[in-house]
Amino acid sequence: MMENMRSVKDIPRLENIPVLVRAALNVPIENGKVVNSFRLRSAIPTIEFLRKAHARVVLIGHIGEKGTETLEPVYQAMKELVPELVWCSSTVGAEARAAVRDLPAGGVLMLENLRRDVGEVGNSPEFARKLAELADVFVEDSFDVCHREHASVVGVPKLLAPYAGFQVMKEVEELTKALSPKSPSLAVIGGAKFTTKEPVLSKLLEKYDRVFVGGALANDFMVAAGHSVGKSLVSSDVDELAIRTLLKNPKLMLPLDEIAAPEGAARIEGNVFALDRVPKTSAVYDDGPKTSAALAAFVARAGTVLWNGPLGLYEKGFTDGTELLAKAIGASKAYSILGGGDTVAAVEELNLSQRFSFISTGGGAMLDFLAKGTLPGLRALER
Ligand code: 3PG
Repeated sequence: MMENMRSVKDIPRLENIPVLVRAALNVPIENGKVVNSFRLRSAIPTIEFLRKAHARVVLIGHIGEKGTETLEPVYQAMKELVPELVWCSSTVGAEARAAVRDLPAGGVLMLENLRRDVGEVGNSPEFARKLAELADVFVEDSFDVCHREHASVVGVPKLLAPYAGFQVMKEVEELTKALSPKSPSLAVIGGAKFTTKEPVLSKLLEKYDRVFVGGALANDFMVAAGHSVGKSLVSSDVDELAIRTLLKNPKLMLPLDEIAAPEGAARIEGNVFALDRVPKTSAVYDDGPKTSAALAAFVARAGTVLWNGPLGLYEKGFTDGTELLAKAIGASKAYSILGGGDTVAAVEELNLSQRFSFISTGGGAMLDFLAKGTLPGLRALER
């Protein structure tokens, strides 16, 4: 696929040229402040390359799902990494055009949240046209959104010469590698929602020696296997036939024990349960110690480990499963690939991110790429 994509290095002329860069700006914000800047840091190589070539860099991106949020806190955080950065409170139109016009060669501008305009998610050709009129060239560096058929992802590349940024090139290279893992190989998929994870689980079961399902996703498998999960989070639209087929696969690994607590309660010492002993009044919030030990033993001798999705309700203090797996990977020699916003944030908090071979900026995009080998936003860049 990469041979069909041109990278930023292939742009014929950059001096004083306005370049629209779709960047991964969708980062976690708490109390008006960015709390994890991993995606912003991964945008720097492309921005610096364009700046040094004296292009005029116009950053576009989204924040949040609904289009109600502002990118201003992201601008503040990004300014610490790119001091030349300036802000424009419009996304398209006269004010945005003027801001691009005023941008000096080597300057960088961030425009307001793309999703403020319904044309972004609606993939409106008119909105794509308004974005395209801001620049001469388009660079896709927001791998996290390449699974969405949104105006900035698939519409703009039809109107401007499209190129892939360094992060997108690296994602394609590393995740393609992840589809030919070195044995013994282990894929770990956490998080929730069976329907969205089913295609990637099927694909990984073809390619990996073991596929471990953890997090809330494991609850769906427990129910299908006849175990009680008490008040745990389960998916409402599980395809019974699909889950039973996966359950029969000998490569599938499920938790061996679980940590449960009354709904909404904090982590309490000793609340570890065997699979068929989860109290009816409790919910499963993490994998138990036997599970972590089994995973760590596999990781210690693994050639490749791929991981997307936290194993427990990390943000509520159920951190054991995620932490023990991160430490096991950190101590192993395996080629390791990590992805998913929450998982990456958790591993960064543990100061273990530098121990991974590659960290993807994608969550859903990483899983879709692994399932299908391509994404709409990548096809849009092909010649
Ligand atoms: C992500 O965080 O996975 C991407 O930025 C895409 O965001 P979305 O799920 O709101 O489309």
